Amino acid sequence: MEGCLGWLNGEIGPLEELRVSADDRGFLFADGIYEVIRVYGSRPFLLQEHLLRLARSAEGIQLQLPFPLQRFAEITHEMIERAGLAEAEVYLQVTRGAAPRLLSFPLSPAPTVLLAVKPPRSLPAEERKRGVSLATVPDDRWRHCDLKSIALLPNVLAAEQAHRVGAHEALFVRDGLVAEGASSNFFLVRQGTLITPLADWRILPGVTRAIVLQLAREEGIPTEERDIPASELCLAEESFLTSTFREVLPVTRIDGSLVGDGLIGTISAALFTVYHEGIQRFLST
Ligand code: PDD
Repeated sequence: MEGCLGWLNGEIGPLEELRVSADDRGFLFADGIYEVIRVYGSRPFLLQEHLLRLARSAEGIQLQLPFPLQRFAEITHEMIERAGLAEAEVYLQVTRGAAPRLLSFPLSPAPTVLLAVKPPRSLPAEERKRGVSLATVPDDRWRHCDLKSIALLPNVLAAEQAHRVGAHEALFVRDGLVAEGASSNFFLVRQGTLITPLADWRILPGVTRAIVLQLAREEGIPTEERDIPASELCLAEESFLTSTFREVLPVTRIDGSLVGDGLIGTISAALFTVYHEGIQRFLST
């Protein structure tokens, strides 16, 4: 991708010129983990939270990170500076590295670390202004959705299914309960209370999700983390998605039905504003 700078096991260059072994277990088995971090004003937002989740994911797949989190942070800062992008996304991936093709772990794994700085993805202004639509999709993922694994095939297929029916994002439903989007967390509002699924094995504990819950509490908005039956979706007055690149993105239609009156809700709009104030607060400290 044009304008993307990469760091691959210490080698720095344009992303499309960096090469990984065809024996890499990330390529062969999706045996790896990743993070996506947003950069505002040349500073990585919530870097520590992302790195702590990287460490959790690594532990979850019994992968020993090749160096301390502090070093990941240094490389992140150095690469943002080199890329010279004030607004950017950092993509960070660690795999169990290249090894003969055996499923069990190599005796002495040499992890592959990739860090790329890219221009941020952007959403059509219309989607931000009017809200987006979701399509529910059965959640057939594994029992460790809390780990940020690069094995994203079910998410890929779900997102594609949603796009084919003109929806912005897929909404996973497992055993009649709402889980999360294919690459986002899900919130709804009922009678002024902000509700989101519990952060257990069924969802990724989103960094944006956590900060939005914190900001909502600071604003005095009641919050609940609990199971959401899919049958409750039609009772939502408001709904939105959170993710590093979507930030707080209002949802105005689910499976073709309007959410509430189909307009962006007041709590969703307020949380979008406080999220951006939160970024400014963070940048000024
Ligand atoms: N996706 N749930 C899933 C399945 C995700 O892949 C993501 C993030 C989230 C939101 O997490 P966070 O707020 O920490 O970004 C929830 C990243 C951004 C991606 O795949 O690009």
